[in-house]
Amino acid sequence: MKARGAGNSLAPRIQQNHGFERELMKRILVTGALGQVGSELVPALRQRYGQQNVLATDIRENDGAPSDEGPFQLVDCTKPEALHDAVTAFAADTIYHLAAILSAVGEAAPLKAYEVNLGGLAHTLEVARVRGCAVFIPSSIAAFGPSTPPDPTPQDTIQRPTTMYGVTKVAGELLADYYFLRYGLDTRGVRYPGLISYLAPPGGGTTDYAVEIFYEAIREERYTCFLKPDTRLDMMYMPDAVRASMEVMEADPSDLKHRNAFNIAAMQFTPDELAAAIRHHIPGFVMEYDVDPLRQGIAESWPRRLDDSAAREEWGWAPEYDLEDMVADMLSNLRQKLAGAGV
Ligand code: NAD
Ligand code: SER
Repeated sequence: MKARGAGNSLAPRIQQNHGFERELMKRILVTGALGQVGSELVPALRQRYGQQNVLATDIRENDGAPSDEGPFQLVDCTKPEALHDAVTAFAADTIYHLAAILSAVGEAAPLKAYEVNLGGLAHTLEVARVRGCAVFIPSSIAAFGPSTPPDPTPQDTIQRPTTMYGVTKVAGELLADYYFLRYGLDTRGVRYPGLISYLAPPGGGTTDYAVEIFYEAIREERYTCFLKPDTRLDMMYMPDAVRASMEVMEADPSDLKHRNAFNIAAMQFTPDELAAAIRHHIPGFVMEYDVDPLRQGIAESWPRRLDDSAAREEWGWAPEYDLEDMVADMLSNLRQKLAGAGV
């Protein structure tokens, strides 16, 4: 076992007691809990740490999402007092900070994205510092830009994103590392690829096509894609993303050379390849294209494949789902969900 911080490129300049002696998260507050990630991460956290030990929060009311089954509270992460009061009242020792505005929505309202993504994160980190909480901060493939090597994209490389979403993500990585280096706050994160899931709809990103396609394949056996057929992007099935988010927070801090944020990867495909994989299950599926220049431009600025060797080496990351496994599981679960909803 290495000495704490020894040999790490990210050894804190000023250490505090909190964040290091923690053995297991016990009281967890999740921001943005009703979104695509939170809808699956919250139940997984509750299963592991206890239903009453995970407080789901969001800026909007819970209208029956899976996180319904435990404590829920309205909290706007851009309001520091509300966040502080919620963390204090719940006696949280860990915050999973998921609240964000995604890439396409962020381009429609850049300053709103800045306020929520970076302002909300700054408030979250400050509340965590005052209350002594560990913080999970998701970053994204969007933290990279057109000057980044796209295939593979190294763990440590050029980060000059060209979307407001990406600007907030790379700034968020730096801010989270700052809180670790300056205050010893236990901040950790992963760079999610585009995420595919069937429980909650995606929140307005560039990779949303890879979720929408499944709904339309089941309902209509056809889908009109807003990206070009050969646009290759890094993607991941939600169960892998949820597991990564928990595993990185449970990793032994003495093993971590990086913190914010780890590349993680599972599969890479184009719209054309995804359509072909769906056709193995729905032979009559038809894919058409009506390219949206905004989202196409964003997609072309992002990595095609992240090099996730640092996550593998430092905390044992390994994905479980490839393209074929993901497509089979998505279709099976989404069919059940849509049948249950009478759709
Ligand atoms: P989402 O858009 O589905 O959900 C975000 C949630 O944040 C929503 O429920 C929304 O109501 C809430 N929210 C918005 N403003 C808020 C505020 N001011 N205060 C509190 N809550 C607020 O997003 P997601 O897909 O669940 O993303 C979660 C995190 O993962 C984000 O940081 C996102 O950037 C990151 N990420 C997601 C993907 C993906 O493909 N879904 C990929 C890479 C990174
Ligand atoms: N899936 C996200 C988006 O497209 C990437 O962070 O915005």
